[in-house]
Amino acid sequence: MNDSTASSPQPAPSTAARAGGAGRLGGLTVSRIGFGAMQLDRLRADPRAAVTLLRRAVELGADHIDTAQFYGDGFVNGLLRDTFRPNDGVVIVSKVGADPNPDGDLPLRPAQRPHQLRASVENNLAALGLEQIPVVNLRRLDAGPGLRAEGDQIIDVDDQLAVMTALRDEGKIGAIGLSGVSLDVLRRALPADIVCVQNAYSLLQRDDEEMLQLCTAHQIAWVPFFPLGSAFAQLPKVADDPAVVDVARSLGCTPAQIGLAWLLHHAPNLLLIPGTADASHLHDNIAAGTIALDDDAMSALDTVRPRSGDVQP
Ligand SMILES: NC(=O)c1ccc[n+]([C@@H]2O[C@H](COP(=O)([O-])OP(=O)(O)OC[C@H]3O[C@@H](n4cnc5c(N)ncnc54)[C@H](OP(=O)(O)O)[C@@H]3O)[C@@H](O)[C@H]2O)c1
Repeated sequence: MNDSTASSPQPAPSTAARAGGAGRLGGLTVSRIGFGAMQLDRLRADPRAAVTLLRRAVELGADHIDTAQFYGDGFVNGLLRDTFRPNDGVVIVSKVGADPNPDGDLPLRPAQRPHQLRASVENNLAALGLEQIPVVNLRRLDAGPGLRAEGDQIIDVDDQLAVMTALRDEGKIGAIGLSGVSLDVLRRALPADIVCVQNAYSLLQRDDEEMLQLCTAHQIAWVPFFPLGSAFAQLPKVADDPAVVDVARSLGCTPAQIGLAWLLHHAPNLLLIPGTADASHLHDNIAAGTIALDDDAMSALDTVRPRSGDVQP
Protein backbone atom coordinates (compact mmCIF):
# COMPACT_ATOMS: atom_id res chain seq x y z
CA MET A 1 0.00 0.00 0.00
CA ASN A 2 1.48 3.34 -0.97
CA ASP A 3 -1.37 5.61 -0.08
CA SER A 4 -4.29 5.83 2.31
CA THR A 5 -7.66 4.37 1.50
CA ALA A 6 -9.23 7.00 3.72
CA SER A 7 -7.51 9.94 2.06
CA SER A 8 -10.58 9.96 -0.19
CA PRO A 9 -13.93 10.29 1.56
CA GLN A 10 -15.21 6.86 0.57
CA PRO A 11 -13.21 3.79 -0.46
CA ALA A 12 -14.00 2.22 -3.80
CA PRO A 13 -16.27 -0.77 -3.26
CA SER A 14 -14.69 -4.18 -3.73
CA THR A 15 -15.86 -6.14 -6.74
CA ALA A 16 -17.77 -8.65 -4.60
CA ALA A 17 -21.10 -7.94 -2.92
CA ARG A 18 -20.48 -6.75 0.61
CA ALA A 19 -20.21 -9.72 2.95
CA GLY A 20 -23.15 -9.71 5.36
CA GLY A 21 -24.60 -6.63 3.63
CA ALA A 22 -23.63 -3.02 4.19
CA GLY A 23 -22.82 -1.49 7.56
CA ARG A 24 -21.48 1.84 8.76
CA LEU A 25 -18.07 2.53 10.26
CA GLY A 26 -17.99 6.22 11.03
CA GLY A 27 -18.50 7.99 7.70
CA LEU A 28 -17.69 4.87 5.69
CA THR A 29 -19.94 2.19 4.26
CA VAL A 30 -18.34 -1.23 4.78
CA SER A 31 -19.29 -4.89 4.67
CA ARG A 32 -20.84 -6.10 7.92
CA ILE A 33 -18.40 -9.01 7.84
CA GLY A 34 -14.75 -8.01 7.89
CA PHE A 35 -11.63 -9.95 8.79
CA GLY A 36 -9.66 -10.09 12.04
CA ALA A 37 -6.00 -10.50 11.09
CA MET A 38 -4.54 -11.56 14.44
CA GLN A 39 -4.61 -15.27 13.59
CA LEU A 40 -2.41 -14.70 10.52
CA ASP A 41 0.66 -14.69 12.75
CA ARG A 42 0.22 -18.48 12.75
CA LEU A 43 1.11 -18.43 9.03
CA ARG A 44 4.48 -16.77 9.64
CA ALA A 45 6.24 -19.78 8.07
CA ASP A 46 4.06 -19.48 4.96
CA PRO A 47 3.46 -15.79 4.16
CA ARG A 48 2.19 -16.63 0.68
CA ALA A 49 -0.66 -18.59 2.24
CA ALA A 50 -1.44 -15.58 4.44
CA VAL A 51 -1.49 -13.24 1.43
CA THR A 52 -3.75 -15.66 -0.46
CA LEU A 53 -6.13 -15.76 2.50
CA LEU A 54 -6.27 -11.97 2.73
CA ARG A 55 -6.93 -11.64 -1.00
CA ARG A 56 -9.63 -14.29 -0.79
CA ALA A 57 -11.32 -12.47 2.10
CA VAL A 58 -11.62 -9.36 -0.05
CA GLU A 59 -12.72 -11.32 -3.13
CA LEU A 60 -15.50 -12.80 -0.99
CA GLY A 61 -16.69 -9.33 0.01
CA ALA A 62 -14.96 -8.49 3.30
CA ASP A 63 -13.66 -4.94 3.03
CA HIS A 64 -12.43 -3.98 6.51
CA ILE A 65 -9.51 -5.63 8.25
CA ASP A 66 -8.58 -5.40 11.91
CA THR A 67 -4.87 -5.36 12.70
CA ALA A 68 -2.23 -4.12 15.16
CA GLN A 69 1.50 -3.56 15.04
CA PHE A 70 1.82 -6.08 17.88
CA TYR A 71 0.30 -8.89 15.80
CA GLY A 72 3.45 -10.85 15.11
CA ASP A 73 5.69 -7.87 15.91
CA GLY A 74 4.84 -6.13 12.62
CA PHE A 75 4.46 -9.33 10.57
CA VAL A 76 0.71 -8.91 10.05
CA ASN A 77 0.94 -5.21 9.17
CA GLY A 78 3.68 -6.09 6.68
CA LEU A 79 1.36 -8.64 5.07
CA LEU A 80 -1.33 -5.99 4.66
CA ARG A 81 1.15 -3.55 3.12
CA ASP A 82 2.32 -6.19 0.65
CA THR A 83 -1.17 -7.45 -0.23
CA PHE A 84 -3.34 -4.40 -0.81
CA ARG A 85 -3.28 -1.30 -2.99
CA PRO A 86 -5.33 1.88 -2.46
CA ASN A 87 -7.81 1.00 -5.20
CA ASP A 88 -8.68 -2.28 -3.52
CA GLY A 89 -11.12 -0.37 -1.30
CA VAL A 90 -9.96 -2.09 1.88
CA VAL A 91 -10.46 -0.19 5.13
CA ILE A 92 -7.62 -0.87 7.55
CA VAL A 93 -8.46 -0.59 11.25
CA SER A 94 -5.50 -0.71 13.61
CA LYS A 95 -5.08 -0.17 17.31
CA VAL A 96 -2.75 1.55 19.75
CA GLY A 97 -2.34 1.25 23.50
CA ALA A 98 0.06 -1.70 23.45
CA ASP A 99 3.42 -2.27 21.80
CA PRO A 100 5.09 -5.41 20.50
CA ASN A 101 6.91 -7.36 23.18
CA PRO A 102 8.58 -10.13 21.16
CA ASP A 103 10.88 -11.35 23.92
CA GLY A 104 8.31 -11.28 26.71
CA ASP A 105 5.94 -13.87 28.12
CA LEU A 106 3.14 -12.08 26.26
CA PRO A 107 3.65 -10.74 22.72
CA LEU A 108 2.46 -7.27 23.76
CA ARG A 109 2.98 -4.83 26.61
CA PRO A 110 0.93 -1.81 27.66
CA ALA A 111 1.82 1.47 25.91
CA GLN A 112 -0.94 3.77 27.17
CA ARG A 113 0.91 7.04 27.65
CA PRO A 114 0.11 9.80 25.16
CA HIS A 115 3.61 9.90 23.63
CA GLN A 116 3.44 6.11 23.25
CA LEU A 117 0.11 6.36 21.43
CA ARG A 118 1.60 8.85 18.98
CA ALA A 119 4.68 6.70 18.42
CA SER A 120 2.48 3.66 17.85
CA VAL A 121 0.43 5.47 15.20
CA GLU A 122 3.69 6.44 13.46
CA ASN A 123 4.91 2.82 13.65
CA ASN A 124 1.64 1.57 12.17
CA LEU A 125 1.77 4.14 9.35
CA ALA A 126 5.30 3.08 8.44
CA ALA A 127 4.59 -0.63 8.66
CA LEU A 128 1.35 -0.40 6.68
CA GLY A 129 2.79 1.99 4.09
CA LEU A 130 -0.09 4.43 4.62
CA GLU A 131 -0.31 8.19 4.93
CA GLN A 132 -3.47 7.82 6.99
CA ILE A 133 -4.95 4.89 8.91
CA PRO A 134 -8.72 5.02 8.27
CA VAL A 135 -9.68 4.00 11.83
CA VAL A 136 -7.51 3.55 14.93
CA ASN A 137 -8.83 1.97 18.11
CA LEU A 138 -7.46 3.28 21.37
CA ARG A 139 -6.96 -0.04 23.17
CA ARG A 140 -7.69 0.84 26.78
CA LEU A 141 -7.05 -1.65 29.56
CA ASP A 142 -10.24 -0.97 31.54
CA ALA A 143 -11.87 -4.30 30.80
CA GLY A 144 -10.61 -7.86 30.41
CA PRO A 145 -9.78 -10.33 29.17
CA GLY A 146 -6.04 -9.79 28.95
CA LEU A 147 -3.70 -7.02 30.04
CA ARG A 148 -4.64 -4.53 32.75
CA ALA A 149 -2.97 -1.17 33.32
CA GLU A 150 -0.68 -0.69 36.34
CA GLY A 151 1.52 2.11 37.68
CA ASP A 152 2.39 4.80 35.13
CA GLN A 153 0.35 2.99 32.50
CA ILE A 154 -2.90 4.07 34.21
CA ILE A 155 -3.81 7.09 32.08
CA ASP A 156 -6.94 9.22 32.10
CA VAL A 157 -8.90 8.81 28.89
CA ASP A 158 -9.07 12.60 28.41
CA ASP A 159 -5.26 12.74 28.14
CA GLN A 160 -5.31 9.94 25.59
CA LEU A 161 -8.12 11.47 23.54
CA ALA A 162 -6.20 14.74 23.40
CA VAL A 163 -3.44 13.05 21.40
CA MET A 164 -5.83 10.88 19.39
CA THR A 165 -7.87 13.88 18.27
CA ALA A 166 -4.65 15.77 17.47
CA LEU A 167 -3.57 12.84 15.28
CA ARG A 168 -6.96 12.95 13.58
CA ASP A 169 -6.65 16.73 13.05
CA GLU A 170 -3.21 16.14 11.52
CA GLY A 171 -4.76 13.58 9.14
CA LYS A 172 -2.68 10.66 10.38
CA ILE A 173 -5.79 8.79 11.44
CA GLY A 174 -9.22 9.05 9.84
CA ALA A 175 -11.39 8.21 12.83
CA ILE A 176 -11.11 7.09 16.45
CA GLY A 177 -12.45 3.92 18.02
CA LEU A 178 -12.15 2.49 21.52
CA SER A 179 -11.33 -1.03 22.69
CA GLY A 180 -11.14 -2.74 26.06
CA VAL A 181 -13.23 0.08 27.41
CA SER A 182 -15.65 0.45 30.32
CA LEU A 183 -19.10 1.97 30.02
CA ASP A 184 -18.09 4.98 32.09
CA VAL A 185 -15.04 5.69 29.92
CA LEU A 186 -17.05 5.32 26.73
CA ARG A 187 -19.62 7.84 28.01
CA ARG A 188 -16.84 10.32 28.76
CA ALA A 189 -15.29 9.77 25.34
CA LEU A 190 -18.44 10.30 23.25
CA PRO A 191 -17.76 14.01 22.53
CA ALA A 192 -14.55 12.98 20.73
CA ASP A 193 -16.71 11.41 17.98
CA ILE A 194 -16.00 7.74 18.59
CA VAL A 195 -16.89 5.65 15.52
CA CYS A 196 -16.54 2.11 16.88
CA VAL A 197 -16.09 0.08 20.04
CA GLN A 198 -14.19 -3.21 20.11
CA ASN A 199 -14.66 -5.22 23.31
CA ALA A 200 -14.80 -8.97 23.87
CA TYR A 201 -18.35 -10.02 23.09
CA SER A 202 -20.11 -13.11 21.77
CA LEU A 203 -23.14 -15.29 22.43
CA LEU A 204 -21.27 -16.60 25.48
CA GLN A 205 -19.76 -13.28 26.62
CA ARG A 206 -22.46 -10.66 26.97
CA ASP A 207 -21.28 -8.51 29.89
CA ASP A 208 -21.40 -5.38 27.73
CA GLU A 209 -25.04 -5.46 26.62
CA GLU A 210 -25.65 -1.99 28.07
CA MET A 211 -22.60 -0.63 26.25
CA LEU A 212 -23.79 -2.18 23.00
CA GLN A 213 -27.15 -0.44 23.46
CA LEU A 214 -25.40 2.88 24.03
CA CYS A 215 -23.42 2.35 20.81
CA THR A 216 -26.59 1.48 18.90
CA ALA A 217 -28.25 4.68 20.16
CA HIS A 218 -25.25 6.78 19.07
CA GLN A 219 -24.76 4.98 15.72
CA ILE A 220 -21.36 3.74 16.85
CA ALA A 221 -20.27 0.45 15.28
CA TRP A 222 -19.97 -2.45 17.71
CA VAL A 223 -17.09 -4.63 16.44
CA PRO A 224 -16.56 -7.40 18.98
CA PHE A 225 -13.31 -9.26 19.37
CA PHE A 226 -13.45 -12.98 20.24
CA PRO A 227 -16.81 -13.34 18.40
CA LEU A 228 -16.34 -17.12 18.41
CA GLY A 229 -14.74 -17.28 21.85
CA SER A 230 -11.14 -16.82 20.65
CA ALA A 231 -8.34 -19.31 19.97
CA PHE A 232 -7.38 -19.42 23.67
CA ALA A 233 -8.06 -22.86 25.10
CA GLN A 234 -9.24 -21.56 28.48
CA LEU A 235 -12.10 -19.50 27.02
CA PRO A 236 -15.44 -21.20 26.19
CA LYS A 237 -16.17 -21.69 22.49
CA VAL A 238 -19.46 -20.55 20.98
CA ALA A 239 -19.43 -23.51 18.58
CA ASP A 240 -19.44 -25.97 21.51
CA ASP A 241 -22.69 -24.74 23.02
CA PRO A 242 -25.46 -27.37 22.71
CA ALA A 243 -28.14 -24.85 21.66
CA VAL A 244 -25.83 -23.49 18.96
CA VAL A 245 -25.11 -27.02 17.75
CA ASP A 246 -28.87 -27.80 17.61
CA VAL A 247 -29.71 -24.71 15.57
CA ALA A 248 -26.78 -25.40 13.25
CA ARG A 249 -27.98 -28.96 12.66
CA SER A 250 -31.53 -27.80 11.91
CA LEU A 251 -30.32 -25.21 9.37
CA GLY A 252 -27.60 -27.33 7.78
CA CYS A 253 -24.71 -25.02 8.65
CA THR A 254 -21.83 -25.07 11.12
CA PRO A 255 -22.07 -24.04 14.78
CA ALA A 256 -19.47 -21.31 14.23
CA GLN A 257 -21.64 -19.86 11.47
CA ILE A 258 -24.62 -19.78 13.84
CA GLY A 259 -22.56 -17.92 16.43
CA LEU A 260 -21.69 -15.30 13.84
CA ALA A 261 -25.21 -15.14 12.39
CA TRP A 262 -26.63 -14.56 15.89
CA LEU A 263 -24.32 -11.57 16.32
CA LEU A 264 -25.42 -10.08 12.98
CA HIS A 265 -29.08 -10.52 13.93
CA HIS A 266 -28.58 -9.23 17.47
CA ALA A 267 -27.74 -5.60 16.67
CA PRO A 268 -27.91 -3.58 13.43
CA ASN A 269 -24.68 -1.68 14.17
CA LEU A 270 -22.67 -4.84 14.78
CA LEU A 271 -19.74 -5.54 12.42
CA LEU A 272 -17.88 -8.86 12.52
CA ILE A 273 -14.12 -9.44 12.46
CA PRO A 274 -13.79 -13.20 13.00
CA GLY A 275 -10.19 -14.36 12.95
CA THR A 276 -8.98 -17.36 11.01
CA ALA A 277 -5.88 -18.76 9.34
CA ASP A 278 -7.94 -21.43 7.57
CA ALA A 279 -9.38 -20.95 4.06
CA SER A 280 -12.37 -23.20 4.64
CA HIS A 281 -13.26 -21.35 7.85
CA LEU A 282 -12.91 -18.05 6.00
CA HIS A 283 -15.53 -19.20 3.46
CA ASP A 284 -17.82 -20.35 6.27
CA ASN A 285 -17.47 -17.06 8.12
CA ILE A 286 -18.32 -14.96 5.08
CA ALA A 287 -21.24 -17.26 4.22
CA ALA A 288 -22.64 -16.71 7.73
CA GLY A 289 -23.86 -13.38 6.39
CA THR A 290 -26.47 -15.18 4.27
CA ILE A 291 -28.00 -17.21 7.14
CA ALA A 292 -31.50 -16.16 8.18
CA LEU A 293 -32.38 -16.94 11.81
CA ASP A 294 -36.13 -17.01 12.46
CA ASP A 295 -37.78 -16.05 15.75
CA ASP A 296 -37.60 -19.60 17.12
CA ALA A 297 -33.88 -19.87 16.39
CA MET A 298 -33.21 -16.43 17.88
CA SER A 299 -35.17 -17.26 21.05
CA ALA A 300 -33.26 -20.53 21.47
CA LEU A 301 -29.97 -18.68 21.10
CA ASP A 302 -30.96 -15.64 23.16
CA THR A 303 -31.51 -17.92 26.15
CA VAL A 304 -28.02 -19.47 26.00
CA ARG A 305 -26.35 -18.89 29.36
CA PRO A 306 -23.41 -16.47 29.04
CA ARG A 307 -20.28 -18.11 30.37
CA SER A 308 -17.86 -15.21 30.66
CA GLY A 309 -17.92 -15.56 34.44
CA ASP A 310 -16.85 -19.20 34.28
CA VAL A 311 -13.21 -18.47 33.46
CA GLN A 312 -10.49 -16.13 34.62
CA PRO A 313 -8.17 -15.76 31.61
N1 LIG B 1 -9.09 -5.15 20.55
C1 LIG B 1 -8.48 -6.19 21.07
O1 LIG B 1 -7.91 -6.11 22.15
C2 LIG B 1 -8.48 -7.50 20.35
C3 LIG B 1 -8.15 -8.66 21.08
C4 LIG B 1 -8.17 -9.86 20.42
C5 LIG B 1 -8.50 -9.93 19.09
N2 LIG B 1 -8.82 -8.80 18.39
C6 LIG B 1 -9.22 -8.87 16.97
O2 LIG B 1 -10.41 -9.62 16.90
C7 LIG B 1 -10.26 -10.64 15.91
C8 LIG B 1 -11.14 -11.83 16.28
O3 LIG B 1 -10.70 -12.40 17.49
P1 LIG B 1 -9.90 -13.78 17.54
O4 LIG B 1 -9.35 -14.11 16.22
O5 LIG B 1 -8.96 -13.71 18.68
O6 LIG B 1 -11.01 -14.81 18.00
P2 LIG B 1 -12.32 -15.44 17.29
O7 LIG B 1 -12.57 -14.80 15.98
O8 LIG B 1 -13.39 -15.48 18.32
O9 LIG B 1 -11.87 -16.94 17.11
C9 LIG B 1 -10.75 -17.32 16.38
C10 LIG B 1 -10.63 -18.83 16.56
O10 LIG B 1 -11.77 -19.47 16.00
C11 LIG B 1 -11.36 -20.36 14.96
N3 LIG B 1 -12.32 -20.20 13.86
C12 LIG B 1 -12.52 -19.12 13.08
N4 LIG B 1 -13.49 -19.34 12.19
C13 LIG B 1 -13.94 -20.61 12.42
C14 LIG B 1 -14.94 -21.42 11.83
N5 LIG B 1 -15.69 -21.00 10.81
N6 LIG B 1 -15.12 -22.68 12.32
C15 LIG B 1 -14.37 -23.14 13.35
N7 LIG B 1 -13.40 -22.41 13.95
C16 LIG B 1 -13.19 -21.15 13.49
C17 LIG B 1 -9.97 -19.94 14.58
O11 LIG B 1 -9.21 -21.06 14.18
P3 LIG B 1 -8.78 -21.25 12.63
O12 LIG B 1 -7.67 -20.29 12.37
O13 LIG B 1 -8.36 -22.69 12.58
O14 LIG B 1 -9.98 -20.98 11.80
C18 LIG B 1 -9.41 -19.42 15.90
O15 LIG B 1 -8.95 -20.49 16.70
C19 LIG B 1 -8.77 -10.95 15.93
O16 LIG B 1 -8.37 -11.66 14.78
C20 LIG B 1 -8.20 -9.57 16.07
O17 LIG B 1 -8.13 -8.93 14.80
C21 LIG B 1 -8.82 -7.59 19.01
